[in-house]
Amino acid sequence: MLVLGIETSCDETAAAVVKDGIEILSNEIASQSSLHAIYGGVVPELACRRHIDVIIPVIDKALKDAGVELKEIDLFAVTYGPGLVGALLIGLNAAKALAISQKKPFIGVNHIEAHLYAALFSHKGKIPLSFPCLGMVLSGGHTALVEIKEIGKYELISQTVDDAIGEAFDKTAKMVGLPYPGGPIIEKLAKAGDAKKFPFKAGSVKGLPLHFSFSGLKTAVLYAIQELTKNNSPLSQEQICDIAASFQYAAFTDVIKKALICSEEKKIRQIIFGGGVANSATLRSFFGALAPELDCFWPEATLSLDNAAMIAGLGYHKFREKKRVGDSLDLETMAALCW
Ligand code: KG4
Ligand code: ZN
Repeated sequence: MLVLGIETSCDETAAAVVKDGIEILSNEIASQSSLHAIYGGVVPELACRRHIDVIIPVIDKALKDAGVELKEIDLFAVTYGPGLVGALLIGLNAAKALAISQKKPFIGVNHIEAHLYAALFSHKGKIPLSFPCLGMVLSGGHTALVEIKEIGKYELISQTVDDAIGEAFDKTAKMVGLPYPGGPIIEKLAKAGDAKKFPFKAGSVKGLPLHFSFSGLKTAVLYAIQELTKNNSPLSQEQICDIAASFQYAAFTDVIKKALICSEEKKIRQIIFGGGVANSATLRSFFGALAPELDCFWPEATLSLDNAAMIAGLGYHKFREKKRVGDSLDLETMAALCW
């Protein structure tokens, strides 16, 4: 079964062709990060306009790379939430139009759930993975721990009560004068910094020990910068690297601590990761060093960030689960879709 996946929930326009939910034939991503870099974050109106400009060429390229013709596609899978409503609309309407023109079914996919599908592409068949397992989404829009009962069945365990972890990376980068997206550049600068220089700490939520909170950490970074620059002197490169290292250490040790408590409570060792922050090699090595008892499943680099292969892959399973009946064409975008 050939599935064309479409993803436009934020600032990536992506299309992919996936066979039988697991074999990626093409995975085309047009990133807009340079468009938003100077603003320190995604500007929704600009994102929508760029999606409109590039969606057809991106779909064409995905079909061409896969060596597949549009008429050969059996199912159109598309992100319908969560995300920026205007951005989601463009992908959703493209998928509906293709489904109507080709007289083929279409299915809406939850973007966050799809992030947790991404790691299965590389690991399926190689490493034994049994359900239930844990899933951790670490992205620019979400931070959550879930129990995955089986593919497509998730139970939310905890999530952030304020900022997502990736958002905290992006804001920290912005505060020290670095462009969007902040994660990769913070990771790079942190290598030259002292992680113990600033005693930053991520938040804990009263009565909810597994929930996340990053807004206090962000404010602590702001106060540290204000203190260092109070005489109108700009931050030195060394200070920026120390802030990056201390912030990153605080954010990552917090998610590792919570993953470990959760694993202990649920008696589940296997954990799948998804989302842009899971791309961090530093995070992966921290998990290896600080939580060796966890069996971690990471997506490949191109599949950690927003992509359409994960949408096509999960869409295939959702379609089978719904007894091969797709979604109705009146499916709406759901900007605040949860689990
Ligand atoms: O999953 P994603 O592509 O988009 C959302 O669904 O949000 O994640 C983007 C986020 C951004 O906040 C970016 O700064 C962060 O992932 N990110 C990283 C790294 N690479 C990307 N954060 C920390 N370290 C990285 N190496
Ligand atoms: Zn995402």
